[in-house]
Amino acid sequence: MFEKSEEMFPAKKNGVFLSHCAISPMQRHAKEAAQGFLDAMAEGGVRRLPEFYGVLQRFHQQVGQMFKTNAENISSVHNTAEGMCLIANGYPFQPGDEVISYVHEFPSNHYPWRLQENRGVKLVLLDDTDPVGSLSGICSPRAWSMEELIRKVNSRTRIIALSHVQFSSGYAADLKELGAFCKERMIDLVVDGAQSVGCLPLYPEGCNVSAVAVSCWKWLMGPFGAGLLYTSPAFRDKIALTMVGSSSMQQGIEYLDHTWAPHEDGCKFEYSTLPWEHLAALNGLLENIFLRYSMEDIRTEVLRLQDVFLQHLDPDLFRPFLFSEAHRSGILALLPKTDAGELVERLLQNGIVVTLRSEYIRVAPHFYLSDQDMKKAAESFNMEAV
Ligand SMILES: Cc1ncc(COP(=O)(O)O)c(C=O)c1O
Repeated sequence: MFEKSEEMFPAKKNGVFLSHCAISPMQRHAKEAAQGFLDAMAEGGVRRLPEFYGVLQRFHQQVGQMFKTNAENISSVHNTAEGMCLIANGYPFQPGDEVISYVHEFPSNHYPWRLQENRGVKLVLLDDTDPVGSLSGICSPRAWSMEELIRKVNSRTRIIALSHVQFSSGYAADLKELGAFCKERMIDLVVDGAQSVGCLPLYPEGCNVSAVAVSCWKWLMGPFGAGLLYTSPAFRDKIALTMVGSSSMQQGIEYLDHTWAPHEDGCKFEYSTLPWEHLAALNGLLENIFLRYSMEDIRTEVLRLQDVFLQHLDPDLFRPFLFSEAHRSGILALLPKTDAGELVERLLQNGIVVTLRSEYIRVAPHFYLSDQDMKKAAESFNMEAV
């Protein structure tokens, strides 16, 4: 059912790429669409620009479709950190307000909240816990717990800022449970979707999520330095502008009209010139892949491929983090019995690309890999670990 050819995914020619949690090979449609824009710019600059006028609007529409929301709730940003900073810096915090996050969040979803300490905001961090019950004392980071989160919420909690999927262990949050909890207490749930969008279903409106910031060069296989942001209308209304420029106002290219009339839709955060080659690339990806297949099917295929890998992996040589079904994600973290750094290097020489975080190796296949690829990778792991 999935198109898995080398023609569509050229990186398959070079081995088995299992690092979609890091920087993915750009998918062919993305590359060609970006190239089309760059060629036109090289040949004609502003003269060729009209050919691409619809690119931003199309991006809003297609990302909206992927998230099952309206196009007006989508913004183009450069990365997760930019999305988070736009939100955090513009949020109407009062001194004494609190934000809850997890002690091992990726920096892009940590520092934007730390910065709010300058405004008298308290950042409360959830401890690392072991949801599996067999990882205690072995390594960290692993996950946060709902019980601790419930204990730490109080009347000053304004925002809960967590990753959908933890970048090192692969622990996936139950966003439905989290969103329902936040809705009851009128807390804004802000999600770092960098490690999930393109691999797991994420429908912000169905989970009462106020905002999602995403990096597009991982599970979406897009260009490095392309990001996106979802904001709900009510949440967006609350956010003050902290970045402004030539695209901030509703009068558009009437540059000498300085009326203060900021956009109210997602364009509010697209303050100035955007990389249109990135937008063209992402449109190509959405059209040909992420709107063609359902996110549910992609998730099922990715987890199935991980299972094929595990079936061939020697359990005496590796200890995988096996979270319960609801908390699984595209990242399968493993602890090898041998030196992880050296093993990753040896695997790379065999054409198997994996990345190391903390003490463990992350195996992150995407849907376009085959069972044969997973078997080959597991055999290489076994051979190199002894
Ligand atoms: C959870 C998470 N968030 C964000 C990022 C990337 O952040 P940015 O887009 O700001 O570079 C990563 C990259 O590894 C990540 O794992």
